[in-house]
Amino acid sequence: MNIKAFIETQWNEIRKTVGDGTAISALSGGVDSSACTVLAHRALGDKLKVIFIDDGLMREGEPADVRAVFAKLGIKVEVVEVADEFFAALAGHLDPEEKRKSFRQAFYSVFGREVLRRGARFLVQGTIKADIIETKGGVKTQHNILEQIGIDPEKGFGFKVVEPLKELFKPDVRLVAKALGLPEKTYARMPFPGPGLMTRVLGEVTPERVAVVRKATRIVEAGIRELKPFQAFAVLLADKGTGIEDGKRKFGDIIIIRSVESRDAMTAKPTPIPWDILMKMSRRMVKEIPSVTRVAYELTPKPPATIEYI
Ligand code: XMP
Repeated sequence: MNIKAFIETQWNEIRKTVGDGTAISALSGGVDSSACTVLAHRALGDKLKVIFIDDGLMREGEPADVRAVFAKLGIKVEVVEVADEFFAALAGHLDPEEKRKSFRQAFYSVFGREVLRRGARFLVQGTIKADIIETKGGVKTQHNILEQIGIDPEKGFGFKVVEPLKELFKPDVRLVAKALGLPEKTYARMPFPGPGLMTRVLGEVTPERVAVVRKATRIVEAGIRELKPFQAFAVLLADKGTGIEDGKRKFGDIIIIRSVESRDAMTAKPTPIPWDILMKMSRRMVKEIPSVTRVAYELTPKPPATIEYI
């Protein structure tokens, strides 16, 4: 693929689509939305407003990190705090597809409001080819797919969607991100799904349960960094497991460590993690997260499992 030619074509396309209007970019800090935001910023300049929705489902320190990366590129990021709205939308949902659909509804309602509030008519987002294939194929409802499954965002939420990366798979997105001047810590970053830590909490998604998986995620990311896996994270199961504390029975949380190797996220294999790294992560989890009584490593490839748990 000719990256330079791709970028230039997309600049022209974005300018043509948005015309004299204004657009909002939905930035999450992941590779896709970061590449997409810089691409659209270079095409539209001040006509693009960049918004980071803090939905309470992000990794530790994410809003500040993202703001710092984009400040270096001269792009201002506005953080909109809406965690309460997302937790309210997710409350009581246990079914994975229900959770995904509730997230999507909250995501676009919030963006619809933010887009209209700023007098914009376009939402620029980093949908990539794998997202479309999986949603259309019925594997799972990816948070950012609407038009491709017959939902008109203009009718439903009041804006048009612009998706410059929708024909690319992850390896090409990384090349585009690099060519646009994003730092290595962004273009080489592990994929992180739009619905964030929600995809790693089985059962009800509450602020308390997300806090557990957030701490566990930090431990996995730090513990496994040197292996440079395609994607690694922690998952909180809905069930509990018995443990012992001060000689007494304790019924606590179960954390799964998931790490996979893949090229494009369409298929994946578990990472062969050395035993000492696994043990170190496990010891840290039970020590640093009091509610955790058990830690396990997941061995299933994709297919038959998917990478995320919901
Ligand atoms: P699965 O779990 O379907 O994940 O094997 C494949 C890749 O996609 C990411 N993923 C998502 N990304 N919105 C996103 O932006 C979503 O709803 C979503 N669901 C899964 C996942 O992290 C993996 O890299």
